[in-house]
Amino acid sequence: MRLAGNRVTIGVTGGIACYKICDLVRNFVKSNLEVRILMSKSATKFINPETFRVLSRKEVLIDTFQYTSAERVEHISLTEETDLFIVAPATANTIAKMAWGFADNMMTAFFLAYKGKTIVCPTMNHKMFTSKQVQENISRLKELGVEILEPEEGELACGEEGRGRLPSVELIFEKAVESLSIKDLKNKRILVTAGPTREHIDPVRFISNPSSGKMGYALAKAAKRRGAEVILITGPTYLDPPYGVKTIKIISAEQMCEKVLENIENVDVVIMSAAVADYKPKITHRKKIKKEESKIDAIELERTPDIINEINKVKKQNLYIIGFAAETENLIKNAQEKLNRKNMNMIVANLVAEAFQRDTNRVTIIKRNGEIRYLPEMNKEDIADEILDELVLDITQ
Ligand code: CTP
Repeated sequence: MRLAGNRVTIGVTGGIACYKICDLVRNFVKSNLEVRILMSKSATKFINPETFRVLSRKEVLIDTFQYTSAERVEHISLTEETDLFIVAPATANTIAKMAWGFADNMMTAFFLAYKGKTIVCPTMNHKMFTSKQVQENISRLKELGVEILEPEEGELACGEEGRGRLPSVELIFEKAVESLSIKDLKNKRILVTAGPTREHIDPVRFISNPSSGKMGYALAKAAKRRGAEVILITGPTYLDPPYGVKTIKIISAEQMCEKVLENIENVDVVIMSAAVADYKPKITHRKKIKKEESKIDAIELERTPDIINEINKVKKQNLYIIGFAAETENLIKNAQEKLNRKNMNMIVANLVAEAFQRDTNRVTIIKRNGEIRYLPEMNKEDIADEILDELVLDITQ
C-alpha cells in the first residue's frame, strides 16, 4: 500500500458503533496516514474525545469555533488538508444535515466547504434507515458525489434484527484505501491464482505444500484497489476473500486448471502465484483407507496439468503472463529458464525459505527483455504493488 502521507478526516457521530472507529483510526495510523477526527456532540456521549486524540495524535474537533492555532479558520483550513472524508458511523441526523447544507458544528461546516472524496456509512435502526426521509437524504448525498457504504444486516443495538449495522472496520478501511489509490489498472481484467492445491489420496489425506496464499491475495487486492476487474482462483487458505474480487475456490490442480481456462478468454493479464502441486496420486480412494485393511508401501503418482503450458496452448496474442519461481538454489538461472520455457512476460523469483507462510518475502523480478530488479525484503502487500508497477510499465508502453 502506498498511502503514507495521505490525509483522512473522519467524522464520528453519535451511535454505539463509535467504538469501532478506534480500530479504524489505529489501522490508518499504522499505515502512516494522517488522521483528523471530527466528532458530533452526541458522539462524545459514547466515546471520550481523549481516546481519539491519543489514537490519532491530533486535536479532536467538535465545535465550529474550536481551532488548533489562532491563524486558522479550522473548518476551512482542514478542507485543504484532507484527501478523503469518512463519516462513520453516520446517524440519520448528520446525514440529513449534510444533505441539506446545515453547518451547525465543525463536521457539517467542514463538509459544506469540502469538495473532495467522501464516504458515508449510514448506521441506525433498520426502520429509520428504510424511512423515506433517510432514503431521500441518502439519494441527495449520492447526487452530491458522496459514496455511500451501505449498512450491514444483523442484530442492532436496539435488539432488533435488520439492515443498519456499521460495516466491518476492515471493509471501511479497504474502501478508503481503494478510494485513495491511483487507478492505473482501470479497464484491465486480471486473473490471479493463489494458495496451494491439494491432491487427495483419500478423503482425509492429501499431497500439498505450505503456501499460505498471502502473495496471491495481496496481488488480487492491490489490483482491485488500482482499478482492475479481478478474478481470484484460490486453493484452500485461511484468508478472507478480498473485497470486490470475484473469488473462485478450488481444491486440486486439475480444478484450478479448469477454472483458469474457463476464464482466460476474458482477461488481459494472468498472474500465476499459486503453488500448484506437480504430482497427484494415480488413484484417489473414495473411502478412507483403513490401516488395518490395506498396507500402503508406495503411492503411485502422475503429473498434474501444467497450467501455464495449458494457457499457452489457447492464449490470445496480447495476454500478459506473470509466473512465480520458488527455488532452493540457482534462483536467477532457474527462474530465467522457466520464464523462457513457459513463455511468460515476467517471472517473480523467490527462495522457498523466504517465501512460504510468511508476511514478508525477498523477490527478484525478471522480465522477458532481460531486465532484472532485485527487491529488498518487504511485506507481501508492498511486493504486490512493485509487481503491478512493472506490469503497468509494460502494458501502457
Ligand atoms: N505452475 C503451473 N502449473 C503447474 C505447476 C506450476 O502453472 N502444474 C506455475 C506456477 O504457478 C508458477 C510457475 O508455474 O507460476 C512456476 O512454478 P514452479 O513450481 O516453480 O515451477 P515448475 O515449472 O513446476 O518447475 P519445478 O517444479 O521443476 O521447479
